Amino acid sequence: MRKNIVAGNWKMNKTLQEGLALATELNDLLATTKTNCDVVIGTPFIHLASVAAAVDTTKLGVAAQNCADHVSGAYTGEVSVGMVKSTGAQYVILGHSERRAYYGETSAILKTKVELALAEGLTPIFCIGEVLAEREAGKQFEVVETQIKESLFDLSAADFGKLVLAYEPVWAIGTGKTASAEQAQEIHAYIRGVIKAKYGAEVADNCTILYGGSCNAKNAKELFANPDVDGGLIGGASLKAADFMGVIAGFDVA
Ligand code: PGA
Repeated sequence: MRKNIVAGNWKMNKTLQEGLALATELNDLLATTKTNCDVVIGTPFIHLASVAAAVDTTKLGVAAQNCADHVSGAYTGEVSVGMVKSTGAQYVILGHSERRAYYGETSAILKTKVELALAEGLTPIFCIGEVLAEREAGKQFEVVETQIKESLFDLSAADFGKLVLAYEPVWAIGTGKTASAEQAQEIHAYIRGVIKAKYGAEVADNCTILYGGSCNAKNAKELFANPDVDGGLIGGASLKAADFMGVIAGFDVA
């Protein structure tokens, strides 16, 4: 059975002290709240070690938002998968559209990062999604399929099975424009079909596919109710505990 996951992506927000306060607040809330999903927070690199030490990482997973495309060495300013892992983080968000658009991360670079993360025992949360012009041209299916194929389809079925995918239409990120529940279901089902064609029904069925892009406490329930939407990658609504808990509550407790 695939997992439901709600993952926060703090992006470049919060000082270390502010981040620790939010992580601790979430940790305390989750200790006394029944949930029907795994919960993860993606913090800036410098927060990882302190946050991972301050929370129960079996209840509140910790993610980096990026990693280097090399194992170690003379790469000034970079952070390796081994360093991320050594903080106690278990996940790494890779291929976010902001990394692709602002930092030139190509499918080839992302392929390397995914492989390094998996080799280190980190779970990649791999982001895909089309820009507005591509959606308007009806090219969203081909765009996400290419992104998946170029970065992920050299993986073994066993390794692919360790990944989490996040479909994030770029036009919905931080814009307040959410994909409708129908649009999300349509493309998530398509993505699962692409995985099925390559790796078979079992791998496809077990793959967690998150939706991201202006997902919040108000629309989470409707989005998560879709059979192929297994949770969310949450930016703005992950920066306050009450907002994030509201998204988590989008998964009813059975
Ligand atoms: P948003 O960001 O929820 O603020 O739209 C989502 C993301 O970029 O992961």
